[in-house]
Amino acid sequence: MGTEENRQKFERNLMRVERDGIDRLMEFIRKSDFYTAPASTKYHGAYEGGLLAHSINVYENLHGKKYAAGLWGAELKDVPDESIIVVGLLHDICKTYYYTTEMRNRKIDGRWEQVPFYTVDDKIPYGHGEKSVMMVEEYIKLTPQERYAIRWHMGPYSGMNDWSTYAEAMKKYPLCLATFEADMEATYILER
Ligand SMILES: [Fe+2]
Repeated sequence: MGTEENRQKFERNLMRVERDGIDRLMEFIRKSDFYTAPASTKYHGAYEGGLLAHSINVYENLHGKKYAAGLWGAELKDVPDESIIVVGLLHDICKTYYYTTEMRNRKIDGRWEQVPFYTVDDKIPYGHGEKSVMMVEEYIKLTPQERYAIRWHMGPYSGMNDWSTYAEAMKKYPLCLATFEADMEATYILER
């Protein structure tokens, strides 16, 4: 289970979003494995509560960009705080009901022992960012900008075939690039 502090921070911020369906979305999250899931199987946040911690990190990075002096502050000044919250906290909601644990043999001090490890079991193979958009929109409506930013949060990692489309999305909504950066900063700096 994610730490109590992280759960409170997540819920406090999400409940600031005044949109029809937000209570039902909150209820879905509480009942799901969102608070206990890892953020990945073995890279960043591969521990219980890793997904929750990662989601908060991305939100805080994005919030920091909006209120920073200079380039990002100017670029994101008209992006509503609600959008920063929704995109940051929910970009990886596709990872709920996504990981499972299996046992694997590992040699510890010369003896074979069964240890648990995370593995992927994708029951809704709809894509990564795409799936997050779909899941959020089952509960609340997203603005076009939020939709794009969640869809494209993986940036160029979405796949080489997507590069020119991604470039157009970045031009249309700088929040797409800001979200990708916030995600990378969380993964490779805060969670390394
Ligand atoms: Fe992601």
